[in-house]
Amino acid sequence: MTFEFRTSINVKCGNGIVDSLGTEVLKLGHNRVLFVTDPGLVKADISARGTDSLKAAGVEFEVYDTIEPNPRDNSLEAVWERVKDQNIEAIVGFGGGSAMDGAKAIAVLARNGGRLSAYDGPGKITNGALPVIAIPTTAGTGSEVTSNAAITDAARHQKMSLRSPSIIPSLALLDPDLLATLPVKIAAESSMDAITHGFESYISNRANTLSEGLSVQSLEYLCPNIRPFVANRADSVVAKKMLVGSMFAGTVIGNTGTGNVHALARALGGIYDLPHGLACSMMFPYVARFNFIACPGKYKVFARLLGLQPDGRSDSAVCDMVVDELFRLCADLGIPTRFSEIGLDDLNIEAVSEVAIGNSGPNPRTTTRADLEYLLRQAA
Ligand SMILES: [Fe+2]
Repeated sequence: MTFEFRTSINVKCGNGIVDSLGTEVLKLGHNRVLFVTDPGLVKADISARGTDSLKAAGVEFEVYDTIEPNPRDNSLEAVWERVKDQNIEAIVGFGGGSAMDGAKAIAVLARNGGRLSAYDGPGKITNGALPVIAIPTTAGTGSEVTSNAAITDAARHQKMSLRSPSIIPSLALLDPDLLATLPVKIAAESSMDAITHGFESYISNRANTLSEGLSVQSLEYLCPNIRPFVANRADSVVAKKMLVGSMFAGTVIGNTGTGNVHALARALGGIYDLPHGLACSMMFPYVARFNFIACPGKYKVFARLLGLQPDGRSDSAVCDMVVDELFRLCADLGIPTRFSEIGLDDLNIEAVSEVAIGNSGPNPRTTTRADLEYLLRQAA
């Protein structure tokens, strides 16, 4: 057996752990940081938990609090231009995937300069990055432990993927209290994104013994808790399980990559600015049916993790159970599974598939552009 699994995460988890941000930043040796967050968290007075902690510890900080849902390269470049002469020593990403990925991108600019489009893809970031401290406010992307950042190329309307071990956050603080007032739509879509990470990493053709164990563990946390979490984000026991599950899944996708759900979601995010979690959720049931013939044994395991009873059933019956359950899960969480339901009646299937085929990566079933067009037509 030959395999490689790399990670270098530093995670602290607990109720109220966010209040230690300032002292943790000092412990890491930083005295002045850029604090990146989104307007919704400012309005809900949640990001103040982070900035209050920085103030209390005497850490100086600049704030960028207008991160976009799909952060754009030109916006992030403008932020770094504004603060680059202010002796910023680290970047704090406080929020969902957008805030954390935006923080990582700014950290890359700080050490490498130029335009973010120069760093799209593996091996492009040669001068490292400023340290990033990540505080997730969704149980979703796992960006707090990953070595990549998804950034929109505003000129080309495409999602780029900045990739380097240097952008794995030097510290992630997981605090379930921060999820208590998460809007229900974001809770639902980002949590489904986390489940797609667990499943796509599990069936990835780059999966190995170690990654498979972590993928299953992530799904053990996520699958039974997603409905209760979306129903009541203030249940901090459930919220903590979701945070841990999404963190495990994030740790794995850095090694295994993702599959067709993410290939299509990235294309839809770049072209139509669709929220990542929504795009992943919508494509998940269709892609799950498509991929089944590649690894039916793993679908049996996934079925059990979803709370189903696959024993004694044929492989195709198990696939039907899994796909039916994914549609039911989306329905229960209020997530649409057709583009027509979100006003995208004129989806440009050719344009989306053209971008997505370049991202198909380690999907377990060999995929052609015609296959991706078929998957998109199913969701039309
Ligand atoms: Fe994702």
